[in-house]
Amino acid sequence: MSFKEEARLITNAAVQKYISVEDAIDIVEKTWTWFGNGEIIMPPKITTDMSSAGVNGWFNSMPNYIKPLDIAGIKVVGGYSDNKKLGMPFIKANVLLTDPHNGLLKALVCGDWISDMRTGAQPAIMAQRLAAKTDVVTIIGAGLQGYTSLLCMSKRLKMKKVYVCDLSEKARLDFISKFAGADFELVNCTDNEAACKDSDIIITVTTADADLVKASWVKEGCLVMTMGSFKEVEFDVVRQADVIAVDHIAQSLHRGNLKPLAELGEITEDSFDVEIGLLLAGKQTYVPDPKKRVYAQIVGMGCPDVAIAETARKRSEEDSTFNSFFDMQG
Ligand SMILES: NC(=O)c1ccc[n+]([C@@H]2O[C@H](COP(=O)([O-])OP(=O)(O)OC[C@H]3O[C@@H](n4cnc5c(N)ncnc54)[C@H](O)[C@@H]3O)[C@@H](O)[C@H]2O)c1
Repeated sequence: MSFKEEARLITNAAVQKYISVEDAIDIVEKTWTWFGNGEIIMPPKITTDMSSAGVNGWFNSMPNYIKPLDIAGIKVVGGYSDNKKLGMPFIKANVLLTDPHNGLLKALVCGDWISDMRTGAQPAIMAQRLAAKTDVVTIIGAGLQGYTSLLCMSKRLKMKKVYVCDLSEKARLDFISKFAGADFELVNCTDNEAACKDSDIIITVTTADADLVKASWVKEGCLVMTMGSFKEVEFDVVRQADVIAVDHIAQSLHRGNLKPLAELGEITEDSFDVEIGLLLAGKQTYVPDPKKRVYAQIVGMGCPDVAIAETARKRSEEDSTFNSFFDMQG
């Protein structure tokens, strides 16, 4: 028996030809809504930590099926600490798309831009729904995900001042230079406390495992969003929050800032007031309140990556100049 398995090889440049930043944000929002509506099958991601074998990295396997797009796929994304020395980003991602009905490979898609942009879209969408005010923002972690976060936030939110905090002076300056001409003020900041105390929104998106934000620095009405892979804020920031929000409840108990609190038994699956997909799908309600402190952990799901990759693949079908195919059975 013979059959054809002609897959597309979609490069990072091709992805950016077919998908704009605004498209990426819209697709993340739509995908979260589908997730809230129960239209996505997505087991929790699993991590392969290679450090005990002497490899300085880890990667997550993030499979899912998206019914409204009728596509199956897996995002494989890792953090590689030695990449910086080679001039490569810390995060590296790829997305594999398959036909859900027969398993044939449809495309191998470079996931770098997709992953970075979907990560940045997350706090933009969360803040639109959860923040009481968006005038003053602190970003702790002026790396790549910090950059895409502010880029996407600038497309969706009206901001006046952004404090840029990072251990590295170079990272802060490079970050600020990328927003030359922005219609908000950027402050090169070495004092997390002063920045946080003045902020309506605080985002941590670092590679640190540390208390970067103290509870006493978080004012009433502030939205704190943690996105890094480890602990980034004092336990009391979570304990003293009036509202706790996440992108995915099950994953949040095993990852990032909430992992140690879940291990202490202080955070359980009943602790969450908002799961963003349910809110977007209209199955929960939340009205931003200037008196409430909101804590949100965004660990990231694989379905937005698969949805963006599939949209790029479909758009490549409409492009008569696209010519990057490979025959898996040949
Ligand atoms: N939640 C998600 O969906 C998601 C997606 C991708 C990556 N991540 C995570 O986001 C984090 C950042 O990734 P990235 O690609 O931007 O990495 P990056 O290396 O480009 O940037 C990280 C920045 O954090 C800074 N930093 C480290 N320790 C610090 C500290 N103690 N105080 C202040 N700044 C500090 C570094 O100087 C660097 O500029 C990682 O933990 C990564 O695993 C999360």
